[in-house]
Amino acid sequence: MKYNSIEEIIKNNRAWVAQKQAQDRTYFEEMASGQKPPYLYIGCSDSRLALTKFTGTEPGELFVHRNIANQVSLTDMNFLAILNYAIIHLEVKHIIVAGHYGCGGIKAALEGRAIGIIDNWVNPIREIYLQKQEEIDALPTKEERLNRLAELNVILQVKNIYQTSIMRQSLQQQKAPEVHGWVVDISTGLIKDLEVSTKQWQLRSLVAAAF
Ligand code: CO
Repeated sequence: MKYNSIEEIIKNNRAWVAQKQAQDRTYFEEMASGQKPPYLYIGCSDSRLALTKFTGTEPGELFVHRNIANQVSLTDMNFLAILNYAIIHLEVKHIIVAGHYGCGGIKAALEGRAIGIIDNWVNPIREIYLQKQEEIDALPTKEERLNRLAELNVILQVKNIYQTSIMRQSLQQQKAPEVHGWVVDISTGLIKDLEVSTKQWQLRSLVAAAF
């Protein structure tokens, strides 16, 4: 793969600005007036996941949080602040948790080869594997095992969103955004909606909030 140089990136930027302005004179003026994105996107930091390209969305549509292996960590201040801001101030309508096949974080968790802090970061994924070991080990190839773990990781992270106090509060107020679980297949470019059913976690959140 050929990488753009820093100079080329700046040049690309100028060309893109010129093209946007030619299409719509007020494009940047409008953009500068503020954001009201309908989506919060939580995904992996992987460089291949060029969000706006994969989804055909424009700047201003996706509010984004990314980390290694798209973790929804209840002790991550950065994530919690983003979730809070997205739900309370931006009033996003949808939260998308997107994992991907071929994820290095998933692989690191399964192989146990990560060293230092990454090993700590991916530990929740190892926990998923240990809980679903029978199901995962029954799959014929390593690739399929890693892919299934990537899917199960997305499902757990969707569940984790319902464990946050901000989500429970917004459910109680009947303002909660819908939560979706996706996996991006980098080998085909296609997004797979896992159609995660969130009803049970919604109910559980409401019960917890009532006590
Ligand atoms: Co990844």
